[in-house]
Amino acid sequence: MPKKYNIAVIPGDGTGPEVVNEGLKVLNSVAAKRKFKYELASFDFGGERYKKTGEVLPDSALEDLKKFDSIYLGAIGHPDVKPGILEVGILLKIRFGLDQYINLRPVKLYPNVWTPIKDKGPKDVDFVVVRENSEGLYKGMGEFKNKGTEDEIAIQTSYNTRRGIERCLRYAFEFCKKRNRKKELTLVGKTNVLTYAFDLWERTFHEVGEKDYKDIKRDYAHVDATCMWFVKNPEWFDVIVTDNMFGDIITDLGAMIQGGMGIAAGGNINPKGVSMFEPIGGSAPKYTGKNVINPLAAIGALQMLLDELGENEAAADVEKGIIKTVAKMPSMSAGKMGMSTTEVGDSVAENIQ
Ligand code: IPM
Ligand code: MN
Repeated sequence: MPKKYNIAVIPGDGTGPEVVNEGLKVLNSVAAKRKFKYELASFDFGGERYKKTGEVLPDSALEDLKKFDSIYLGAIGHPDVKPGILEVGILLKIRFGLDQYINLRPVKLYPNVWTPIKDKGPKDVDFVVVRENSEGLYKGMGEFKNKGTEDEIAIQTSYNTRRGIERCLRYAFEFCKKRNRKKELTLVGKTNVLTYAFDLWERTFHEVGEKDYKDIKRDYAHVDATCMWFVKNPEWFDVIVTDNMFGDIITDLGAMIQGGMGIAAGGNINPKGVSMFEPIGGSAPKYTGKNVINPLAAIGALQMLLDELGENEAAADVEKGIIKTVAKMPSMSAGKMGMSTTEVGDSVAENIQ
């Protein structure tokens, strides 16, 4: 009996639906090759639904999503909706609600893809960021005092638990071991200023590493210096582990050095539950419907989805398809790709066969 997967699809806003379509084209192609079956269920959460119904993501939807094997997301963000409503109400609600406590973001430069860093190539830019995805500043804890007065104070708290940190670190150590490259895990933090949060991160890092991962080298870097090294010496990194906020910031920089938002993919992972995969760029509303947006990030997200399902050969096929396609692409940026959105999807789908 061939395996069958139930996949929830949230195309979302702006160019989300377009790039998801290309990802699904590739899924169709690779499923035929690797002989597995799947069923899709589409959910219309996003800006349009919110404008029509006032509903962002009902609690019942979270329960529905828990029944799937995986979730494939396009993009969330609408120009007519105040920033925060959809991001918090949909994206963060799913991440937290399904306890997707890892945000996995590979930073890998493929041959022929332009990078803004001079004298660096594919052999230099190939590392993975493991971002904690359920705590830190994203917990939304804080308060206003004396709101609206000259004495106003806004407090925003970073919430870090030993358990939350430890499960993230363990995932990162395991990932590093499985990846089997330099076998080096770098903790990125700010121990010189955030003396509570990163004290706990650092102690836990060394405790867990010393006890259970003696074969993995441990390194530490401040987040500001990390930004410098992403540009200057990206080849130093193998696997990085960091908190939610720093992970958010450094992975945008990471996306740039791997060729831009058009190619950067990520996974929100609950290793024992339902995970969600997405291109890490936004909904790019001004390109909607123009067939110019790069779908490779969404296709890369599909690759990660297949890997998490255990369809590792299919995932490797998708990556090969991406590599063959970028080899023919003159440029990666929207409108200048030299190929349309649908042509890129067709190309990857064909290259798989
Ligand atoms: C990301 C995004 C989100 C985040 C926003 C949209 C809430 O920037 O996935 O990196 O900050 O995590
Ligand atoms: Mn971000």
